[in-house]
Amino acid sequence: MDRINIQASTDYEVLIGKGLIDSCGTHIRECLFRAQKALIVTDSNVAPLYLGRVKSSLEREGFSVSDYVFEAGEEKKNIDSIAGMWAVMAEEEFTRTDIVVSLGGGVATDMGGFAAATFLRGIKVVQIPTSLLAMADAALGGKTGIDLPQGKNLVGAFHQPSMVIEDTDCLATLPSEVFTEGMAEVIKYAFIMDKELYGVLSEIADSGKAMSLQEDIDTLTKILISCVKDKAEVITEDEKDNGRRQILNYGHTIGHVIERNSNFTLAHGVCVAKGMGIITDACLKSSMMSADTAESIKDLIKAYGLPTEDPITPEDAVSGAMNDKKKRGDTISLILVNEIGKAEIKKMTPEELLEFLR
Ligand code: GLY
Repeated sequence: MDRINIQASTDYEVLIGKGLIDSCGTHIRECLFRAQKALIVTDSNVAPLYLGRVKSSLEREGFSVSDYVFEAGEEKKNIDSIAGMWAVMAEEEFTRTDIVVSLGGGVATDMGGFAAATFLRGIKVVQIPTSLLAMADAALGGKTGIDLPQGKNLVGAFHQPSMVIEDTDCLATLPSEVFTEGMAEVIKYAFIMDKELYGVLSEIADSGKAMSLQEDIDTLTKILISCVKDKAEVITEDEKDNGRRQILNYGHTIGHVIERNSNFTLAHGVCVAKGMGIITDACLKSSMMSADTAESIKDLIKAYGLPTEDPITPEDAVSGAMNDKKKRGDTISLILVNEIGKAEIKKMTPEELLEFLR
């Protein structure tokens, strides 16, 4: 098992290894020795696979365990689900030393974290991500929240977990399209800050093994560890997203608009991949990057089974982006990668963004 430390307002460990679902109770008990009750928040796809095992592991450590299972999908990432979690905790008389355990993909980790951030003005949360996307990104760094009809993640709180437990055995059984969308966030780290990871991912792609990476858990674990270390570095530097953390939004500004316009029928990672491709085209057209770099970026995204294009018009992209929570005043911070391994944050007005995307 690997342990990676994240230094934020509270320091915590990310545990990465095989079989951790069945020993999660022991690890949670080691760091939260006063907790008596745990609420497991998970979705209807993950519950049949792992809820019973996580529950048993917690019960073996003396926890009294409740659960809240919501219907899988982005649609349930709303205040009604959070109210349901609050109600269970209130009925079970949770106190401030009790805990929430989020189990699943990004929707579960965001909502479990938000329920914990708000119940009794804040109780502890442990994140157990089971998708590649959540392991590499969503479960780390304390961003929690829900969607509004007006936009994704518009309500939320920063609430760092007490521990993140990543069982790499979960990756082998992910549906292949769920695995593939997670690769968008993995590839993102290579582009924005990790040239070495870019080298590893390119080598796999060049040897024709990109689409079978899911079967190679050892290589995948090494890649995941690189991503977690990258994210730990960024969170340590800028926990509250006022500076460098914004580079993690590469591909997300346009990606979120595409995701919302599809009524969430397109997966988040697929939309991020499209967003990265669209920004790359715009950078190339604006002569900010070389044709070789643009080709390398798009080739890597495609090699892992992800798209780099979308029919969205520049006008729709801009009006959607201006509704994004990352907008500050009249400008939006767009993340650009013109050299692999290096991201820059560029503030743009709506007019500048439109001009850039046209
Ligand atoms: N997912 C981007 C961030 O955690 O900042």
